[in-house]
Amino acid sequence: MLAAMPSAPRSLVSIEDLSVGEILELFRHAEEFGADLTAWTHLCRGAIMATLFLEPSTRTRLSFEAAMHRLGGGVITVSDASSSSQAKGESLADTVRVVGGPYADIVVIRHPDDGAARVAARYARVPVINGGDGAHEHPTQTLCDLYTLWKEKGRLEGLDVVLCGDLRHSRTVHSFAYALARFRANIVTIPYPGLEMPQYVLDRLRREFGVQAIAASVGELPGLAGKENSVAYLTASRPHQLALFTQPTIEQVQHIDAIYMTRAQRERHAGDEVRRENYPRLSGESLRSAMFKDARVMHPLPRLDEISHEVDDDPRAVYFRQAELGVPIRMALMAFLLGQIRLDAEPPARFAVQPGLSFDAHGGLRCRNERCITNREGSGPVVRDFRLVEEATALLACAYCDKEVRAAFVGNAQTKEYVPVSVPAAARIDLEHRVYFVSEEQAATAAYRPAATGDVAR
Ligand code: NCD
Repeated sequence: MLAAMPSAPRSLVSIEDLSVGEILELFRHAEEFGADLTAWTHLCRGAIMATLFLEPSTRTRLSFEAAMHRLGGGVITVSDASSSSQAKGESLADTVRVVGGPYADIVVIRHPDDGAARVAARYARVPVINGGDGAHEHPTQTLCDLYTLWKEKGRLEGLDVVLCGDLRHSRTVHSFAYALARFRANIVTIPYPGLEMPQYVLDRLRREFGVQAIAASVGELPGLAGKENSVAYLTASRPHQLALFTQPTIEQVQHIDAIYMTRAQRERHAGDEVRRENYPRLSGESLRSAMFKDARVMHPLPRLDEISHEVDDDPRAVYFRQAELGVPIRMALMAFLLGQIRLDAEPPARFAVQPGLSFDAHGGLRCRNERCITNREGSGPVVRDFRLVEEATALLACAYCDKEVRAAFVGNAQTKEYVPVSVPAAARIDLEHRVYFVSEEQAATAAYRPAATGDVAR
């Protein structure tokens, strides 16, 4: 059934909440802010930003706070989960209802659960910025990453960017991949074996941006691509190429514009999945490969051993620059969300089927992602809610963490009857009365019964 969607102020939960045009305009504002960081204290004078950081952070929180001070605003903060009421079991919704309204004009949140930032954005009455939610997304790190790359290379389109390391759990990688695809850059993935890019991210890249994954070969990259690594080339720039071959071709990567290293996100690993000695490591020797001649070395930080310290002085190393540029780009973002600068570009048309359309699960559908805030104990009463991604195949995505689920049955909330999604009667149920299920057991648990006549229309 359609969930009530309160008209919310604009927030940044996913990097897809900004259009390509808006991102480019933010870069131009960041250029202006960065030219003299001290000249803008009039812009957001009197505004208050709350940083609600329920997971460790150094750069993200401090750069947001520095950015707000530079815009002339004030800052209130929770920087330690154990010192907030969340430790007493308060729901996130209750916390942000108060913080995002009477206490602050803008909220930046970091949270261990996937989808938490979307919950915050739904309940706060002010703009919410996602400072990292579980293994899901980290859109402002992506703004820093894109902005750095854009400044270094003068463009993003057509660049070949390697993403290396723990691609499964790195939220920075997921947001960065969506953005690179939209800017029509190509992505080469070199995961630590077993920590490949999640399937739902690849599916979304394919469906929303026409990105194809082609097996790739990167030749000799000492310390990075071992025999066991399954390298892939993700590209939208030659969408018809695959159609020409019955066997997928192997893309030979000859040249790399940037390599983005990530640490093993051990706090999100169930067991000891990563052997330190096998984890990819970029060294001075790796950089001597001809492929890296014009590459930029990137990292969202913190770095553990993924980049050896000898690389720090190499002119191609830009990871400290990424962190530095976090201040002007976050100034631009906050000034925009607080209505102090205007962007001329169109906002994104985010959802394919119907903007903002979402279905309250009504005791039925459950998100398949155990790390999703809707499945976490102690997250409070978050209404499970799904976006219809593809009506014909009953493909839905969790409205919070984006993980996809394919329904097998659809019910009518008025008659409490259901049919298989494949029968013609399914399509006749009004969108606003639909309730989806993955199984008949799930429908029965939600007190729905099979439609006697096979017709549940209206
Ligand atoms: C990243 C994060 O928190 O996801 N750090 C950051 O914000 N720059 C990357 C990481 O922790 O590995």
